[in-house]
Amino acid sequence: MPLVSPKEMFAKAYAGKFAIGAFNVNNMEIIQGIMEAGQEERSPLILQVSAGARKYAGQNYIVKLMEAATESSDLPVVLHLDHGKDFTICKEVIDGGFTSVMIDGSSHSFEDNIRVTKEVVDYAHEHGVWVEAELGVLAGVEEDVSADDHIYTNPDQAVEFVERTGCDSLAIAIGTSHGAYKFTGEARLDFDRLEKISNMLPQYPLVLHGASSVLQEFVHMCNEYGGDIGSAQGVPEELLRKAATFGVCKINIDTDIRLAMTAVVRKYLQENPAAFDPRSYLGAARTAVKDMVQHKIKNVLGSSNAA
Ligand code: G3H
Ligand code: 13P
Ligand code: ZN
Repeated sequence: MPLVSPKEMFAKAYAGKFAIGAFNVNNMEIIQGIMEAGQEERSPLILQVSAGARKYAGQNYIVKLMEAATESSDLPVVLHLDHGKDFTICKEVIDGGFTSVMIDGSSHSFEDNIRVTKEVVDYAHEHGVWVEAELGVLAGVEEDVSADDHIYTNPDQAVEFVERTGCDSLAIAIGTSHGAYKFTGEARLDFDRLEKISNMLPQYPLVLHGASSVLQEFVHMCNEYGGDIGSAQGVPEELLRKAATFGVCKINIDTDIRLAMTAVVRKYLQENPAAFDPRSYLGAARTAVKDMVQHKIKNVLGSSNAA
């Protein structure tokens, strides 16, 4: 089945109070692991590509891998650009066959964010492509941009932003952050703010970035088998389930994939010191991605049987 727009899957997710997982992909094993999980759960999927992933694998490789992954599948699958920083990259992926883009103007002033988002919306909509934008700033590091503090999304500004840009979905800042070290004390998200934004933008799909749960099983496995990633902590799964009941239709997950793969590769190589066929440890990593994604779909996102 050809790649699809997120429109229909978000409408279903919104109505059913569940979310679609948006999983970051960089190579074949990650794509295959996610697709296998989606297939078994009959779940719609969003596979997303950051600028770094695009540079690492090459846009053409990713698009061809996605074609291979979807031509033998009947699942609705979206190919999305994650954190597009300007019009140029958004245009390049739209021209290359992506069905959804994120223009991330969140580091700009409100007016500049509106300007760049509107420019992308105009081009994308001419080509039938969905546009996610972002308002508010997540603490942490992403690509070339880092922020020490969150700037939570202002609900009034969110309404004005959506009206003036025509963006199709909006990523908001309510306390999540990118990477493996999201909270030092108790993990909490600003649900009052989320509820307000959702009420002010009825029927409108919201997006949560920085939504990995940093599964402790994999943190411990990394640390046990020679890693040093300390006491990483993510967004508790029950908070993600709750967010999906307030209009959050897309939940972004990258760090959990990285941790799952790295943990099992570390374990595999330590337990099999004579192994040197990459298929052995990359195969184990692919299975770990599949199992982790299947767990998310079934127990956190709630998107099983929505395909
Ligand atoms: O938001 C960031 C994503 O985790 C992608 O990370 O830019 O290192 O590929 P990356
Ligand atoms: P995590 O770092 O929590 O996986 O967030 C990923 C993300 O938001 C990609 O855009
Ligand atoms: Zn993100």
